[in-house]
Amino acid sequence: MITLTDIAYVRSGAADLSGAVKFATDIVGLELVEQSELGVAHLRADHRHHCLALVEGPSGVISSGFSVANDDALAQAEVELNAAGITTTRGSAEEARSRRVREYIAFDDPFGNRLELVTQQETVTRPVAFSRTSGITEFGHLCLDAPDVHEAFRFWSTHFNARVSDWIGDGACLMRIDPVHHKLAVFQGDGPGLCHMNFQVATIDDVFRNWHYLVEHGVEITMGPGRHPQSTAVFLYFLGPEGFTYEYSFGVRRIDDEAAWVPRTFDPAEPGSIDMWLGEVKRTTTQAQLVAKD
Ligand SMILES: [Fe+2]
Repeated sequence: MITLTDIAYVRSGAADLSGAVKFATDIVGLELVEQSELGVAHLRADHRHHCLALVEGPSGVISSGFSVANDDALAQAEVELNAAGITTTRGSAEEARSRRVREYIAFDDPFGNRLELVTQQETVTRPVAFSRTSGITEFGHLCLDAPDVHEAFRFWSTHFNARVSDWIGDGACLMRIDPVHHKLAVFQGDGPGLCHMNFQVATIDDVFRNWHYLVEHGVEITMGPGRHPQSTAVFLYFLGPEGFTYEYSFGVRRIDDEAAWVPRTFDPAEPGSIDMWLGEVKRTTTQAQLVAKD
């Protein structure tokens, strides 16, 4: 069993890097970290050096990163995955540097989502210099697509410490790796890809202020503001360039009594099962997975 200690980052390809960076800063509010690598923009939201890396090249998600405790844990993870027939690749020193991690391994989940396990993701103590006051407090969760969310849960729960918090029928599996209701979700989709990347904001007012800001700036709102009954989070999904969906949310449930929590199942066809406020429910745009070069 591989223990994921946290989510680390999303790495995404952008054909129009400057356009994607402009959106991530001016609209989403992230800090653009001083450029240290040609063709890569690191974006910061919290203590992490970055949680989003936009890489000049074909549009599509490159990988999703998760932390493990240390190099020994990483080596053990490599052994376990290989024993299960999952091919892993060690990142080079240069690739690790670009991710601001000490070491990492990359592999595909059974559906083709590229995952990376990392050690010692760099922490930055300087306060985040947000590009605008969107109220972001942290990188909250990431959501991947898979054709079968039950199979996806089997993968995550067999190899990793992911526990299901709630099911939305056959449509979604919301999983936790710590007390936060979900740091990882898998949505039903045709193929592999990044369904959305979530940022937590400090207050419910931030969600609504951001909503007005996005509307004023002509950003396509996918869904919300609304409230998810599973996590109790007030959400707002919106579409960025190159098919990358962002989410702001506030008020995610914590599951502090691990033993007492019983996962629930919600029928997506039942009114209120996705948005308790009964707003229009729409499927978010998924950014398709790029096929790894190696
Ligand atoms: Fe989400």
